[in-house]
Amino acid sequence: MAASRDQWNSQIGFLLAAVGSAVGLGNIWRFSYMAYEHGGGAFLIPYVVALLTCGIPLLVLEFALGHERTGSAPLAFAKVDRRAEFFGWWPVTFVMFGIVLYYCVIIAWCLNYCIYSFSLAWGSNPDAFFFKQFLKLPKGPMEIGGINLNILLSTGTIWFLNWLIVLRGVGKGIEMANKIFMPLLFFLTIFLVFWALTLDGSVDGVIAYLRPDFSKISKIGVWIDAYSQIFFSLSLGFGIMIAYASYLPRKANITSNAIMTSIMDSLFAIVAGLGVFAVLGFMAHAKGVPISKVVSESIGLAFVAYPQALSIMPGGNYFGVIFFLSLVVAGLSSSISILEAFTSAVIDKFNVNRTFVVSAVCILGFMGSAIFTTHSGLYWLDIVDHFITHYGLVVVGIAECIIGAWLFDVEKLRKHVNGISTIKMPKIWNVIIRFFVPAILLVILAGDLVSELKAPYGNYPWFSIAVIGLNWMGLTVIAAAIFTKLPWHYEYMLYTPEEDEE
Ligand code: PHE
Repeated sequence: MAASRDQWNSQIGFLLAAVGSAVGLGNIWRFSYMAYEHGGGAFLIPYVVALLTCGIPLLVLEFALGHERTGSAPLAFAKVDRRAEFFGWWPVTFVMFGIVLYYCVIIAWCLNYCIYSFSLAWGSNPDAFFFKQFLKLPKGPMEIGGINLNILLSTGTIWFLNWLIVLRGVGKGIEMANKIFMPLLFFLTIFLVFWALTLDGSVDGVIAYLRPDFSKISKIGVWIDAYSQIFFSLSLGFGIMIAYASYLPRKANITSNAIMTSIMDSLFAIVAGLGVFAVLGFMAHAKGVPISKVVSESIGLAFVAYPQALSIMPGGNYFGVIFFLSLVVAGLSSSISILEAFTSAVIDKFNVNRTFVVSAVCILGFMGSAIFTTHSGLYWLDIVDHFITHYGLVVVGIAECIIGAWLFDVEKLRKHVNGISTIKMPKIWNVIIRFFVPAILLVILAGDLVSELKAPYGNYPWFSIAVIGLNWMGLTVIAAAIFTKLPWHYEYMLYTPEEDEE
């Protein structure tokens, strides 16, 4: 007999875990730049439209599939149709053997920088410090060089923390961790935003971030970016939300939880953006240059622009410690969700003991992360990330809609969800899942493919792109196919009670 399924101790625990997965580095270092580039406050229009027409409907679909079919992505999909199982394995495989490997390395950099902040160790040239001294970045991705030992050590620490949390299971591990992480992240962020707003020039930064420019939102690219950002930010297409929802009790408020998760994720991004741009405004003011000269996003923002600002800010070292600590917390609550998506899939299919799976996965994960701790690690993560997030997620999103809407039955899912939720999904949800979301995702996919063929991504040599990006994707497909082919430990798990009765 299979062991009984783990469960959340409370609905709030589930909500915090879902928010923990959704709120990640992307909310802190990507959203605000995107808004700034795409019309400031006016960007809220495409963003909210994308949230209502794609983000929330798809999140409800993932919650509904995980809950109604009661399983991680492979189990839930196999219970819909045996042919669909592969599309459950692929995301949990590429997220486990792709995304989380470098995601943990980036969290590890944040950990290193948290410590460097105490002494502002980057000195007067944060750019050279980060690329030359810290990463030892070579000219191209094929010059792998050696491993950066300090990064390997901090990466090991991050994997150890992941192990410690996921090992303890859903209620005692993931839920407990998020009950600490989420309030902590909230307070750290609010504290930093208020601090940042007191700096000279901060208001100019905030104005640059939010000043609406409605002419921008007539561009199709802005809309595509809004949809992609929502998709990535809500951790959709990874199998994470499906696994998390499978641990809910039979009676669970699915739609309210989906709406709350989306609202908290977006609010966090908007508020964090205030802090980011207040600091950029301060730096522009201090240097006497326009904001456009200091803005940047993602790695450049956290590891180059921010350190520059911290060096000239009163109390900048403490600000830095708190800022990098909040990145670590936001990152960890996302990385544990990835581990759980894969772990739950393996437990469902092979009925192996959690301690064994989590330990094996963390050891393998740490070993896999090592490639991203080498001198050329930044190039590798950039290429792998590009392929997985641009193609993997979108293909899985389309597959999910086909599985939920066509192979299964959207109306049945809608009835299931409405029967237990306070907020009811209207009938239009069926149309959105059947036609609209797949159509939008196809447009995104087509747009990506066209730009891919026009020029190699990031101007890397085609050879590196093929060896690193395409091979990596190919290997995840093969691994997922193998997982799919292996036999189920308990074949009967694939049959739902109604079918047994027939
Ligand atoms: N949603 C997270 C963010 O916005 C990213 C993430 C990626 C989370 C992969 C889980 C898995 O940063």
